[in-house]
Amino acid sequence: MEDKLEQLRLQTMQRLENVSGKKELEELRVEVLGKKGSLTALLRGMGSLPAEERPRVGQLVNKVRKQIEQRFDEIETQLDGIIRQKRLESETLDITMPGKKHEIGSLHPNNQVLEELIDIFLSMGFDVVDGFEVESEYYNFEALNVSSDHPARDEQDTFYITDNLLLRTQTSTAQIRTMEQTKPPIRIISPGRVYRSDEVDATHSPVFHQVEGLVVDKGITMCDLKGVLQQFVREMYGPDLNIRFRPSFFPFTEPSVEVDVSCSECAGKGCRVCKGVGWIEILGAGMVHPKVLSTCGINPDEYTGFAFGVGLDRLTMTRHKINDIRLLFENDLRFLKQFG
Ligand code: PHE
Repeated sequence: MEDKLEQLRLQTMQRLENVSGKKELEELRVEVLGKKGSLTALLRGMGSLPAEERPRVGQLVNKVRKQIEQRFDEIETQLDGIIRQKRLESETLDITMPGKKHEIGSLHPNNQVLEELIDIFLSMGFDVVDGFEVESEYYNFEALNVSSDHPARDEQDTFYITDNLLLRTQTSTAQIRTMEQTKPPIRIISPGRVYRSDEVDATHSPVFHQVEGLVVDKGITMCDLKGVLQQFVREMYGPDLNIRFRPSFFPFTEPSVEVDVSCSECAGKGCRVCKGVGWIEILGAGMVHPKVLSTCGINPDEYTGFAFGVGLDRLTMTRHKINDIRLLFENDLRFLKQFG
């Protein structure tokens, strides 16, 4: 019995030294110390010993059991240490490694020009208001003095959502909404996206951008319109540039004008950019039609006003000498990065 015990002890100790993982360790523990384990089996065999031998052998078995258990615990602690070490090694972070470079985006050239434009008008005391891209016929046409049989509707054919709802063709909708809600004096600009069912080419896109301007107060004249636009153009393009008014027609302004700026490329002499004219058209404008004022509840005998609509994409194109509007909408990074 004692020999068997010693043999089991030695064997177990030896096997313990070669254990390579926790799973193996647990299996060995069950094999030796478990209910059906080899040491437990030896203990049962004690029944066949003479009574006087039993206490001594019992003590011996307990001693061996303790020894084995202790060694199991030691090996387990060792294994835990190794596992922890391995994990720490695999999780090390070298904080001296150079970081990954993330590409940084930049403002779209349209937005850059818009921010400049907004700054200029804010400095002249204008507010910026938002408009809706989905509008009713009333705000896009009717209230702007474009009745349903008006030929101007052809020019601004758009996308209808229902019989009455459409994608706005012009930011002039903001004139009506502002005048309905605000008492004069009014001084606002309203930038945004507009839609027309145009074929795409170098100068046309079914989606483009305008900035509307509106001033209503007592005693506003065309001189104010010209002064404000002149100031805007000089701040935007340079102090030497001039503007000129050409008579035009819009149903919601009377009189109406088209505004040209002297070509910055040739200083008005005539070149390829301005097609030899020396001037580039940048916006439509005029004095707010008395009918439009009264439709919005403003007395045209008391108040007058002017409005203008700038093509933002146009502005960006002349500003950066871009010759195709499609470039502004294609989101080609090679193009956009030039404005970063
Ligand atoms: N809404 C006009 C257009 O889109 C431009 C405009 C705005 C003209 C304001 C006069 C006054 O063509």
